[in-house]
Amino acid sequence: MNWHDKVALITGGSSGVGLSFARRLSQAGAYVALVARQMSGLEEAARQLGTKRVTLFPLDVGDRESLLALPRRIYEQLGEIDMLVNNAGVNHRGAFETRSAAQVAQILDVNLVAPVLLTHAALPFLSTGASVINVASLAGKVPVPHEATYSATKSGLRAFSRALEREHTGLRVLTVCPGPIQTPFLAEIDAVPNMVFSQPISAPDEVVDAALRALEQNQSEVDVPKLSGKLATLGYLFPALMRAAAPLLERRGAINKRKYLRAALAAR
Ligand SMILES: NC(=O)c1ccc[n+]([C@@H]2O[C@H](COP(=O)([O-])OP(=O)(O)OC[C@H]3O[C@@H](n4cnc5c(N)ncnc54)[C@H](OP(=O)(O)O)[C@@H]3O)[C@@H](O)[C@H]2O)c1
Repeated sequence: MNWHDKVALITGGSSGVGLSFARRLSQAGAYVALVARQMSGLEEAARQLGTKRVTLFPLDVGDRESLLALPRRIYEQLGEIDMLVNNAGVNHRGAFETRSAAQVAQILDVNLVAPVLLTHAALPFLSTGASVINVASLAGKVPVPHEATYSATKSGLRAFSRALEREHTGLRVLTVCPGPIQTPFLAEIDAVPNMVFSQPISAPDEVVDAALRALEQNQSEVDVPKLSGKLATLGYLFPALMRAAAPLLERRGAINKRKYLRAALAAR
């Protein structure tokens, strides 16, 4: 696909997957509008991208007024939006009963309410045939204990995305379902459930390359890595099988997590 002079709006664009989208698209000549809460993170991202085709929009996607006003601001500064990447996400891991109401609400707002509302607000400002990429998670297919709210939001985002793809024929809508990715999102390793480590960890660029390839091939959904996606789909279709396999996956995950922790410590 030719991204030269196209405009991409990327939420969570200062880090991890969002920054990788920004890099790939700006390298292809696109203008990228990056959204995140911290201006310092956005400025560092712009420095790393090293191009003048970056515009920074420091805002909290949970702030409804700012979120709804965003597409018009981008349209006025950069023109029609050719790609919307709903990528910003948060998690507060731990037993549901130990999470505060504010934490639960933040996960719902950032991961589910914001992408749906932003997509809606962006519709009048999208170019013909524009792309909407929704970054969900394999946790939306196979719900993860101690990540109940997170799993619910990713499952909801996937459902929204898949339905929109069939409904709004003028848009290309792609759902991206990654397994674990090596980003600051995994920083509090102790709190990450062992189950998450039962799958291989992807680099952000692997996720983005798979997403851009899938978009090019007109796919509606892509799992990264593919094999984890197939296993997750099996678990989704046959929950009893998933329950039976869970102890094995937990054990394997615990071993991988210890290895990952050791490697992280050695790299410091
Ligand atoms: N990493 C994984 O293991 C993994 C696995 C599956 C799916 N995912 C999904 O992939 C997406 C990207 O995650 P990542 O791993 O790249 O995370 P990351 O490196 O932690 O980046 C998160 C980005 O979102 C921004 N952000 C967070 N809350 C925001 C808010 N309220 N308003 C605006 N921006 C906000 C952050 O910037 P500020 O902090 O400055 O706001 C940052 O730019 C998320 O949707 C996540 O759920 C991640």
